[in-house]
Amino acid sequence: MLNDCSSILSFLETRRSGKPRELVGPSPTPDEMQRMLTIAARVPDHGKLTPWRFVLVGDDQRDDLARLLDRALAAEDPGAAPAIHEKADEFAHYAGQLVVLVSAPVEAHKIPVWEQQLSCGTAGMNLLTAAHALGFVAGWVTGWQAYSPLVNAAFCSPGERIAGFIFIGHPARELEDRPRPEVADVAKPWQPPQF
Ligand SMILES: Cc1cc2nc3c(=O)[nH]c(=O)nc-3n(C[C@H](O)[C@H](O)[C@H](O)COP(=O)(O)O)c2cc1C
Repeated sequence: MLNDCSSILSFLETRRSGKPRELVGPSPTPDEMQRMLTIAARVPDHGKLTPWRFVLVGDDQRDDLARLLDRALAAEDPGAAPAIHEKADEFAHYAGQLVVLVSAPVEAHKIPVWEQQLSCGTAGMNLLTAAHALGFVAGWVTGWQAYSPLVNAAFCSPGERIAGFIFIGHPARELEDRPRPEVADVAKPWQPPQF
């Protein structure tokens, strides 16, 4: 065991996400992003297929994202109230660096797509962990926009899908934790079937 593992353990025991809508700047620098993404890409990946990728949305592209979400919302729900459109506009302009995590499985491969999607989830988790370890706060959200065909078409190639929008910034106030599962409820000894 490495000497400094106790600090890693206490970090993992207390790490928590922030709510993207509550983040403030500044965003990570390009060097910090490079480091986070390097860590995010260092994950279990059966078959070494790299079945995921990261799309970085620049601050100067947020108006483009807002226009896309506005059109996508109108397509999803032509009767959406103005307040829902405003929320979509706010989403597009949340502070921090926006990384769109794209699941990019290799179809018709001996490695099942499910395993490739699991690998994508680990990349998302590693990105959160790396962001938090570098002193940022990150939050992973999906919402209707992750399932909208128009939004997916703007970020993904055929066969890919949006796994989430990960915003990386700083908290405007102290983060609240959320209830965590009791280990005893989620980890139990195996009960073998009786033949
Ligand atoms: C795939 C995925 C999608 C999520 N989508 C949303 C969402 O749309 N809205 C939301 O409030 N939380 C969403 N969450 C949960 C947030 O990420 C939440 O902040 C997270 O459960 C906090 O856990 P942590 O503090 O252990 O990081 C999502 C989580 C995952 C893994």
